[in-house]
Amino acid sequence: MAGRHIAPDTPELRERWDGFAFTAANKAAADKHIAKYPEGRQKSAVMPLLDLAQRQVGEETDTQGWLPLPVIEYVAEYLSMPVIRVLEVATFYFMYNLVPVGKFHVQVCGTTPCMLRGSDDIIAACKKRGMDFGKVSEDGLWTLTEVECMGNCATAPMVQINDDNYEDLTAERLDAVLDALAAGEQPKVGTQEPGRHTSEPANALSSLKEMVDANHDYRGDW
Ligand code: FES
Repeated sequence: MAGRHIAPDTPELRERWDGFAFTAANKAAADKHIAKYPEGRQKSAVMPLLDLAQRQVGEETDTQGWLPLPVIEYVAEYLSMPVIRVLEVATFYFMYNLVPVGKFHVQVCGTTPCMLRGSDDIIAACKKRGMDFGKVSEDGLWTLTEVECMGNCATAPMVQINDDNYEDLTAERLDAVLDALAAGEQPKVGTQEPGRHTSEPANALSSLKEMVDANHDYRGDW
């Protein structure tokens, strides 16, 4: 996560994004989020509003989206919050991109279970296609980021690409997923292990076997 920084506040950035405003649909969605909170607590909606703003930037740039400073300022004004408070949220949570990303943001988990199951090979496969950490590839398609545990350890190694997770990866399986995305197709999400549906045991059941047929009370076994 080192190297996380906001994009410089330049005249070009201002020229492109100073006029940012929610679309009618996003304004309606934003107001619906705000209405969930009591009067005077509208700032509680800051996270979904930042997410809406990031997605709108994504639609306008055909990328996964990011948060230019003027867009963060727009959200702050929308919620009557000091800009620094919104900036604190945007910079704290990794789900917000602070610099431009590609059409597909490939977030590779490199934490221990994924590392032991081959995340180095997954990163190498990404780099082989021209991806580099924190950079947009020349064709504008990819940005590579290494992240911490995404909660899919039972189906490690895994990557999150935009809103979807791809699990039980090998370099070859990842290549197939990336080829499909590059071709404009939607690959199967979740586990890529043939015959596996979610995170159930990949082979035969090896633990808690008595639970299969009955609500077995294990306390006597301890
Ligand atoms: S360690 Fe990679 S998902 Fe948990």
